Amino acid sequence: MRHWLGIDIGTGGSRALLVREDGGVACGVTAAHEEMVMHRALWAEQRPENWWDAARHAIRGVLAKAGLGGGDIAGVGLSGQMHGLTLLDAGHEVIRPALIWCDQRSQQQVDWINSAAGEDMVLAQTANPVLTGFTAPKLLWVRDHEPDCYDRVRKMLLPKDYIRYRLTGDFASEVSDASGTALFDVVRRRWAKPLIDKLGIDGSILPEVFESPEVAGQIASSVAEETGLAAGTPVVGGGGDQAASAVGNGIVEPGLVSCTIGTSGVVFSHLDEAAYDPEGRVHTFCHAVPGKWHVMGVTQAAGLSLQWFRNNFASELAAAAEARGVEIYDLLTEEAAMIPAGSEGLVWLPYLMGERTPHLDPRARGGWVGMTAKHSRAHLIRSILEGVAFSLNDCLGIIESLGADVAAVRASGGGAKSPLWRKILAGVFGKPIATLQTQEGSAYGAALLAMVGTGAFGSVEEACRALIVERRRDQPDEALEAAYGVSYGLFQDLYPALKNIFPRM
Ligand code: XUL
Repeated sequence: MRHWLGIDIGTGGSRALLVREDGGVACGVTAAHEEMVMHRALWAEQRPENWWDAARHAIRGVLAKAGLGGGDIAGVGLSGQMHGLTLLDAGHEVIRPALIWCDQRSQQQVDWINSAAGEDMVLAQTANPVLTGFTAPKLLWVRDHEPDCYDRVRKMLLPKDYIRYRLTGDFASEVSDASGTALFDVVRRRWAKPLIDKLGIDGSILPEVFESPEVAGQIASSVAEETGLAAGTPVVGGGGDQAASAVGNGIVEPGLVSCTIGTSGVVFSHLDEAAYDPEGRVHTFCHAVPGKWHVMGVTQAAGLSLQWFRNNFASELAAAAEARGVEIYDLLTEEAAMIPAGSEGLVWLPYLMGERTPHLDPRARGGWVGMTAKHSRAHLIRSILEGVAFSLNDCLGIIESLGADVAAVRASGGGAKSPLWRKILAGVFGKPIATLQTQEGSAYGAALLAMVGTGAFGSVEEACRALIVERRRDQPDEALEAAYGVSYGLFQDLYPALKNIFPRM
């Protein structure tokens, strides 16, 4: 039986997933990345070479686990964390560690872009305001602070496209990920040349852009041995992790909305026509479906909030988790389940890496408000799950205000594996939370794009209609909705009250 390989270059690790012709998952292997390096508060870097090491191990691992050879793989799809700045020199070596999606150091460069090009031109050319999270201001930060590095730049690639380069030798991207660079004409689906010229950026550093299911290259013979893949295997454009995850969740037609809790958290809605929030609080990007778009709201530190808590305040649970054969996260959510909805007045602001939706504020800071001597560690954990859900509800509210008719929300990502977190999402959103038969998100979506690109399906929509099946729905509990309503009100009032204090920190 033919198989397709989806590869997701996430923040925490790289995942390789094998999907069979019938859409079933054969198996998956994840190789962890090094922790992101934070030289200063709100800075975040990773080494692209580490992504490649992890990706290679995951690919070899998954082929071995399935007992398959490279010749059994009909096509490869890539997805990955968006916006990251990977810079290559004339010899195609990495110049410096990548500034990744949650790095917030580039506000001065955002201001410079807005004054050099004008906010209207930025919006007309890219359909979005430029944000610190996007790639162009990161590139200009290197121009301003590391001119020696900048002078050596010959190629600028997004994270998954660096892995594509290592796999195929080609410099290529696709429309969904390119949309997050702030240099891409999202409406016309091509590089925004007038803006690029205006900013004095050399357009030759940018890769060729494909539609997501299009074949964009082939596995190079030079990497066949080290990956186990066969030379000549087609590699499709793929997608930014959110667009690919949306394909994996079947969010490819109007009326469908997903909520993904990975390191970041995203509420995502399909659009038949490019439409945008006049205040720019949600992003309008090209979808991985040719000729379609999407809007998404982003919580910077969703899974990251709980991961940060685990790393700093719960490492002693590692032994207990191992003894029970569960993850530390399972123990943390067990503790949280003992606390009533609303965490007895304790509110978590998840702004550990600034915030995008709805505040667009790189200087926002995280924290608990409302602590009393009665509160315990279990309250801290529960309030984190709730605070992330409140922030995602901010995203959902804006998406609904743009006209999306949301009957239910499809949940995915590591966070959606927690029954408690799903229940909290249902209560906070006041909507059923659907989970799917296959909960593999981005890597699965990347594999589906490869199936479409190599002819197994006629279109992305056709593949999703055939393969995406809902498994269960968690219904909102009316009694809890009232408690969350009170806490959400507090949550919404806290950012405006603290906004002017954050820059002084
Ligand atoms: C989306 C975003 C994050 C990253 C990491 O705009 O920045 O979701 O892609 O997952």
